[in-house]
Amino acid sequence: MNPVFSRVAIIGAGAMGRGIAQIAAQAGSEVHLFDTQSGASSKAREAIGQTWDKLAEKGKLTAESVNLFKARLHNANRLMDLADCELVVEAIVEKIDIKKSVFADLEKTVAHDAVLVTNTSSLSVTAIAAGMQHPGRFAGYHFFNPVPLMKVVEVIAGLRTDAAVCHRLSDYARQMGHTPVQAGDTPGFSVNHAGRGYSTEALRIVSEGIADFATIDRILRDQVGFRLGPFELFDLTALDVSHHVIESIYRQYYDEPRYRPNVITAQRLAGGVVGKKVGEGFYKYIDGVQQVPAEAPVPVVSNLPPVWVSPRAARRAELLQLLKDLGARIETGQSPSPDALTIVAPLGFDVTTVAVVDRHDPARTIGIDMLVPDSATRRRVLATNPATRTDMRDAAHALFARDGKPVSVIRDSGGFVTQRVVATIVNIASDMCQQQVCTPEDLETAVTLGLAYPMGPLAIGNRFGPDSILEVLFNMQTVYGDPRYRPSPWLRRRGAIGLSLLHTENQ
Ligand code: NAI
Repeated sequence: MNPVFSRVAIIGAGAMGRGIAQIAAQAGSEVHLFDTQSGASSKAREAIGQTWDKLAEKGKLTAESVNLFKARLHNANRLMDLADCELVVEAIVEKIDIKKSVFADLEKTVAHDAVLVTNTSSLSVTAIAAGMQHPGRFAGYHFFNPVPLMKVVEVIAGLRTDAAVCHRLSDYARQMGHTPVQAGDTPGFSVNHAGRGYSTEALRIVSEGIADFATIDRILRDQVGFRLGPFELFDLTALDVSHHVIESIYRQYYDEPRYRPNVITAQRLAGGVVGKKVGEGFYKYIDGVQQVPAEAPVPVVSNLPPVWVSPRAARRAELLQLLKDLGARIETGQSPSPDALTIVAPLGFDVTTVAVVDRHDPARTIGIDMLVPDSATRRRVLATNPATRTDMRDAAHALFARDGKPVSVIRDSGGFVTQRVVATIVNIASDMCQQQVCTPEDLETAVTLGLAYPMGPLAIGNRFGPDSILEVLFNMQTVYGDPRYRPSPWLRRRGAIGLSLLHTENQ
């Protein structure tokens, strides 16, 4: 099959330019690499060639195709050499003035119907196009690093981009083995916008002293199935990149509280503790190996108290069965006896609020996060409140760890860890659909491929029930009084009616 674009120019032969050149050549295009730094294009060609050689050694490519691919890569020494290219992909420094001046030069060089795209991750496509002679043929084409492995690309129409250009770019993306998703020309487009919830809510949990970095990472990996915890992810991306992304999206959305940054990353960035690449981020690294602090051991408790479970506990029947399986002495009276450990399982409320409202003795009250069914989680999470006695805390820890499942004990938090983070992710994704940043389907694809979440954010909401997520958010808003947690109308309406979060209205 002939490629949609036979001759492709790549401006900027850095990390992204190289990756895009590789997949474009694999798709059958003749690729011309241009870089202002002398020798950069040749270095890029060499590096791409080595990647193909390695793939051939592993048996993933034949020697013939490697030769064919290599013959399709060319150096361009001057912009003039790109005159007959049909597609120009810009992947240079993230500075709008420089990008605009490169496109002004390109418009003088290439044919008037050549397609021009930018790989920008944070600048407005419409703003880059302003002043262009033919803005209709210009679009955003946002790839992810490393390009050959991250098989998704956002196709972004600016205010004046022709729809036909986006269709051609989508078709070409498929030829390169990537999945195209359409995203509006809004801050963070779809993937970086959707990613705001995971890390910023985790930072808030740390800043409230509820749990440390490693505990939060463990909880989110084990309860929801995220591949990396938010702090491991920060260490890999490095704060000199991610802190600026957080701030820029927040500011571009006029200080929307849902995207609010946190002083923790600002301070760590200022101190140079930015991540794995410098040997220290949220974790320390020795010879590149992450050093994970040990978990608190399970306390040895010889005499476990009887247990009483609140009638208002989430998943109460399941919780009672679990306690029975763990061999607990379960009380069935209307209220707990004076010695009993009182278990509550709120959604969105903190343990303190539940103990006070339901008139439990706070000293003997412990919360458990039951958003995720016990059978579906690899970890249980308990929360104390400021008055919880240490013997009650230790008894609850020992009891819930009896079958060997790990237990994390955190301080009181409206929504524990998982509820808070999951509800924030689902809420932001819902609001993106409400704001028409992208379609629900494209959002799910973009996030699963671009952020490697175990499933799309709306599917996560559906898994736990939009009504439960809504309850978590309403109650968190009550506990914290923070508009950050106000539910999006998309979620509020679908949760109230009982519809899937993927449901779109009839046109
Ligand atoms: P990089 O620093 O690795 O490479 C940029 C290359 O552009 C360098 O080789 C530089 O010499 C060259 N260059 C600079 N000014 C130029 C000019 N006027 N004309 C021609 N070449 C020029 O940068 P990287 O990481 O490849 O990023 C490039 C673009 O891709 C940026 O807009 C960035 O925001 C975007 N991006 C980066 C991602 C990443 O994870 N690195 C992910 C998605 C987008």
